[in-house]
This record gives sequence, structure tokens and C-alpha cells, in this order.
Amino acid sequence: MTTYKAACMPGDGIGPEIIAEGRKVLDSAGEKFGFDIDWTDYDTGAERYLKTGELISEDELKELSKFSTIYFGSIGDDRVKPGILEKGILLALRFYFDQYVNLRPIKLLKGVSTPLANKKPSDIDFVVVRENTEDFYVGIGSRVKSGKQRDELSVLRDLYNVKFGIDVETDADELAYQIGVVSRQGSKRVMEYAFDLSMTRDKKLTSVDKANVLTDVYGLWREVFEETKINYPAVSTDYNFVDAITMWFVKNPEWFDVVVTPNMFGDIITDLGAMIQGGLGLAPGGNINPDGTSMFEPIHGSAPKYKGQNVANPLATIWAGSLLLDTLGEKEAAAAVVSSIEHSIEKGAVTRDMGGSMGTNEIGEWIAKDILNK
Ligand code: IPM
Ligand code: MN
Repeated sequence: MTTYKAACMPGDGIGPEIIAEGRKVLDSAGEKFGFDIDWTDYDTGAERYLKTGELISEDELKELSKFSTIYFGSIGDDRVKPGILEKGILLALRFYFDQYVNLRPIKLLKGVSTPLANKKPSDIDFVVVRENTEDFYVGIGSRVKSGKQRDELSVLRDLYNVKFGIDVETDADELAYQIGVVSRQGSKRVMEYAFDLSMTRDKKLTSVDKANVLTDVYGLWREVFEETKINYPAVSTDYNFVDAITMWFVKNPEWFDVVVTPNMFGDIITDLGAMIQGGLGLAPGGNINPDGTSMFEPIHGSAPKYKGQNVANPLATIWAGSLLLDTLGEKEAAAAVVSSIEHSIEKGAVTRDMGGSMGTNEIGEWIAKDILNK
């Protein structure tokens, strides 16, 4: 029997509750389909940070490379300044393991209601492939202190001196900048992943950019897309500017099959995507390095106010578990998880946010049993 080594990071808020349900389901899928998952827990998150000041250590990161996969709950805590846990844990993992694909299916499951009038499950079924290691997420930026960075910022200095009378030499901290980076290699690898994925689906790929304004970065992105598509003649392609695609996701989601997007636009449009597929409670994501350690998570946050109340909806996490299995190559088990999620919705075995009355802890059990009964 195959045994997969998986790391588990439940994290903050509702994280531990939803991850517990996800694990019940994955363990049961293993029982049904003949594999084992050997879990190792990590206490990464706000609690440990507040106690020890540590986010995630270099040693831990090294140790984590031994795992084929990480199952991640959620992070975020009101007692910690925004950005610290996100950058120090979640983004640190995405970058350390070079998880350059952020895979986010936007699929309206049977029985789920969407805010879009007259749209049914067959109309909302596409996948967003979000670039996950570049763009405005590279972390190069600064609050400009007086006198600092004078040379690189001479253009900005002159511009803002004229515009607002800001003198970067003396008015400390009046200006901030952030650099977005797009590279040929970085774009090509994620686009190839998206093209390969579209070959297994409807062979239609849409690229998102803002090449009409941010002409340097997204001009390069578009150029690489043009070059890459030559190798995939069977796939039909088009472009959408990011502002326009938000309209089309709402008006004509049936147009989309696979969508490939730079990092930050991907962050934004997948929250919109989550809403049209029934809300953040139902939106899973995979941070994938096809040759390394990948990580799977719900795309929602840690919802601290629901912590410990047994009301959180674990379906996004369970669905993320299906993506985890799929990436491990356990395709049949992955499909069984999604089909049992659909079954639970059909039977009304859901949490309050979806109109049901079950507690978080009952959902995983229900789905785990359903898989065994298949
Ligand atoms: C997401 C989140 C993260 C992101 C945050 C928490 C760093 O919004 O996974 O979409 O911006 O990527
Ligand atoms: Mn986001």
C-alpha cells in the first residue's frame, strides 16, 4: 500500500476545526482506495508567534521539503498586525517551495445557490490558474525615508515634488512604492501548466492582464502567452483585461474554461469567483509545485469570531483535500471526495451558512462515511 507523508498546519481561528474534518475525509478516501496518509502536525500560527515570536523557522522549512504535500487550515488573528502571519507563514511557504501555480476551481456544485440569476452548475465550471510567486507579491517595496533610495527614486522624487510639494529628502515617510515583477520564465511555466490543464478540459484558455496600462510587466506577460500558445494549437485562446473579466465572470461565466492570471489580479478575481460558486465557504485552492512540495487550503481566512463554535463550514477545506489527492495522483479518490461533497449538499447535510443545521464536526463524518459506502 502506498503511504504519503503529509504535513498538517491547522493554523488559527476555525483552522483546527475545518482541518480535522478534512482529515477524516482524506483518511476515509485512503481506506476506500487503498492508500495511507502519514500526518505530521505543525503548530505554525498566531498562538506560537505570540508566545515565542517565531513564525516558521529555516529548519522547519527544510524539514517540510520531505513531505509531498502540506494540508493548511487558515491563519489570521486579531492580536497580530495584518501582514505578519500572511507574509511570515503563508507567503513564506508559497515562495520557499516555489509553488508557482495557485489552482482555484470555480465550480457551482449541484444544489448550491449562486447569486447569479439563471445560472446553473453547467454554466459555472472553470479553473483559475493564478501565478503564485511573482507580480506585486515579490515583496520589494518601501516606505521612503528621507534621503534613502535617492538614486533609484529620482523620478518619483521629482514627480511628487512638483505634484504635492513632497521633498523626499526631508519629509520622511511620505511616499511608498511596491514593485511588481513579471519574468519570462516565471510566466511561461505557469502558462504551460494552464495550457496542459486546458488540454484535459474544454481546450479553451483565457489570459488576464492589464497590458493597456501596465505595459511593461503585463506587456511581457502577454508576449509570453503569445509565444507559448504556438505549442498548443488545439487550444483556443483569448485575452481579457482584468477589469473586464470581473464583468464577464458575473454576466457570462459559461464562457470560461481555464483562466491564467498574474498573481494579484488572480487574488482579486478568485474572491469574485468564490462568490459566484456559492461563497468563500466553498472555495478551495492548491499551491502547486509540480516537482516539489505542494500545499492545499481553503481560500477563506481564519474567521476568529466563529472559532470553537462548531459552526464553520468545512467544505472548502474538504474540497482542497480533493485537490491534494488529485495532485498526488489519486484521481479516483479525489473525484469521490467531490462527489460525496455534492451528495452531502443534496441531502441537506450542511452547516448553517448553507441552510442546514449540522455542526462542523458532523460534516466530515458524514462525507467520510459516504465515501466508504460508495
Ligand atoms: C489568498 C489570500 C492571501 C493572498 C493572503 C492571506 C496573503 O488572500 O490566498 O487569496 O493574498 O494570496
Ligand atoms: Mn485572496
